[in-house]
Amino acid sequence: MELELILLAILSLLSHANGAEYELVVVDEDIFSSCPDARPGTLDIHGLLDMSEFSTSMDSDGVTVSGNTTMVWDIQLEDRVTLSINLLYLDRGTWKPTIFSLFSKDFCKDMYEKNQIWYKVWTQYISNDIKDKCLNSPGTKIILETYLVRLTTTIAGPIREGHYKANIVFRAFDSYGAERPTRICYEILGDFFKVRNE
Ligand SMILES: *[C@@H]1O[C@H](CO)[C@@H](O)[C@H](O)[C@H]1NC(C)=O
Repeated sequence: MELELILLAILSLLSHANGAEYELVVVDEDIFSSCPDARPGTLDIHGLLDMSEFSTSMDSDGVTVSGNTTMVWDIQLEDRVTLSINLLYLDRGTWKPTIFSLFSKDFCKDMYEKNQIWYKVWTQYISNDIKDKCLNSPGTKIILETYLVRLTTTIAGPIREGHYKANIVFRAFDSYGAERPTRICYEILGDFFKVRNE
């Protein structure tokens, strides 16, 4: 399967964790992939956001993000949204969990928490006020500043070389705690290579 992945862009991200330098190659043209083997009712990034006014470009500094997205997920304003992020490592053909895993049981409350990864790479750059709308208001635009994501700033500790993916899931629950019929799942795939030993 790895061979099918076309390396469309190379990010030369220099990480000094463990005294070595690494290069990260993001393997999907659109950055966000659908989740494999997802259960019925699972939508990908396009079920969460209309991405037609959104664009990314990659160079040696990182990923430059620009444009806007529009909420499309069919949930209600008062729903509680959970977010889980899991980093997986490809070990002899099988995706294995790593210690990197995050869960927010109320993403709308946590979306502007300054020490969270989603704040660092996303919500701090939203220029319109969506505090009360969160992701729960289909048709609402999320207006983004143009910004650069340097992945190295979000990586702490030594990195094992190889294939990784971040699996991201949003779920919505009504006020009785019943889950809405659709959930969102998407993945970001990347490969880490050590380019220089200390
Ligand atoms: C994003 O939305 C703002 C406000 O509606 C608009 O002025 C701007 O042109 C949009 N950007 C893109 C890339 O569509």
